Amino acid sequence: MKKLNRREFVRTGSGTALTASVAPAALATAPPATSKRSSRKFRIAIIGVGNRGRLFLKASLDRFNVDVPALCDFREEAAQRGVRMVREKLGYEPDTYTDGPNDYQRLLERDDVDAVFITTPTWWHGPMAIASLRAHKHVFSEVPACNTIQEGWDLVRAAQETDAKYFMAENLCFTRSNMMILNAVEQGVFGTLSFAECGYIHEARNLQFNEDGSLNWRGSLNSRTDLIANTYPTHALGPTSMWFGIPRGDQLRQCVSMMTPARSFRDYSIERFGPDSPGATATWNGDNTVSLIRTERGAVIFLRFDICSPRPHHMDFYTLQGAKASYDDEAGMFVDGKSKDWEPVSDYYGRYDHPFWTRHGKAALRTGHGGGDYFVVEHFYKCLTEDKTPGIDVYDAVTWSSLIPLSAKSVRENGATQEVPDYTEGQWKNRRRYDWSNG
Ligand SMILES: NC(=O)c1ccc[n+]([C@@H]2O[C@H](COP(=O)([O-])OP(=O)(O)OC[C@H]3O[C@@H](n4cnc5c(N)ncnc54)[C@H](O)[C@@H]3O)[C@@H](O)[C@H]2O)c1
Repeated sequence: MKKLNRREFVRTGSGTALTASVAPAALATAPPATSKRSSRKFRIAIIGVGNRGRLFLKASLDRFNVDVPALCDFREEAAQRGVRMVREKLGYEPDTYTDGPNDYQRLLERDDVDAVFITTPTWWHGPMAIASLRAHKHVFSEVPACNTIQEGWDLVRAAQETDAKYFMAENLCFTRSNMMILNAVEQGVFGTLSFAECGYIHEARNLQFNEDGSLNWRGSLNSRTDLIANTYPTHALGPTSMWFGIPRGDQLRQCVSMMTPARSFRDYSIERFGPDSPGATATWNGDNTVSLIRTERGAVIFLRFDICSPRPHHMDFYTLQGAKASYDDEAGMFVDGKSKDWEPVSDYYGRYDHPFWTRHGKAALRTGHGGGDYFVVEHFYKCLTEDKTPGIDVYDAVTWSSLIPLSAKSVRENGATQEVPDYTEGQWKNRRRYDWSNG
């Protein structure tokens, strides 16, 4: 059977894609064409059809009513994997944009794409999101949002100048325990918050290299001299910021960062690929970067980043101290006046499970990152369907991501204090916490 690309498919009227292709403006309501949960059809594109891109493409095809007019990846084979997925589910082939790293700009010229999923290496997220918003496409961005302070401002301005929605998909905000703590904080269990520890501690030495020992995009990122320090803060800082309400009632104010010498990546590279391998001489990120951050309301957050020291993965490194209670991901919960000692976190699930979690937890647990990968997709489509601003919006995203350049600058300046830019321009005092109870 001849395979149709999407345009031919639409021209011949071979299926439900016809409805989408002639739908007028973005977010137009289409007749319920499938049994999927949303009766609205969204026209999506994926930029970066690698692991994460395919994950979100599959979730969209399986769970939502989507049309996929286009895919972009400068690796032809990656784009073609996505094409096969779309063909299998929707019966046509999307157009592909594979002509180099800037071909996404051509994709953004299309008027039949409502939303883009940006799932490229981290340094592309900012420029691609800015361009997408300027092209009036809704944005689902992988973490982090941006890598420089200026990029953060440009992203804020681009979001302010359009009606298109911006969502940073920080999936670790949506694990069961992190959502439960959020719910308990908002119910007053912790009282006033004073201190938290959080970290991304995920030994990922093997993920930095191609098979021949050359550096892949992760290796290139972690040996970029302008970014050396914490290149990936939002998995740790995102959930913590939600608990403190940053920037929604409190705001990051200052930080200092220190880094230990770079040993583990180099040693690993020499051992695995030899003393002349690219990783043996690269200017690697230090083994540990530790930041101390002070908030406007006087709380202190300890943030650690370590992706190369040999140790088992510690995905949930979070502690939280309030005036009335304490949480420690390993020790458990302690509520003053009620607990005699640490109590298992699981004892608190029944009472404080977040309603968003309760509604979707069972299905979510079938997906990755403690269910977080389910919730980010769920939330994004809900915001599109109900035309509401996502709960991790551009101000949350750039504030949490600012620890990348700030930690790098502090390390370069021997631990000097850095002022955190207030991307909300004072609005953090009035910005309300997002009500996640309805998703
Ligand atoms: N939230 C999470 O838990 C989580 C987990 C893993 C990765 N990530 C993030 O997701 C992003 C993607 O990670 P991944 O594991 O899918 O990586 P990947 O290497 O599997 O996929 C990235 C894809 O982007 C493509 N690409 C690179 N530059 C491009 C460009 N300019 N235009 C078009 N395509 C381009 C690559 O060819 C590749 O196919 C990264 O930013 C990563 O940090 C997040």
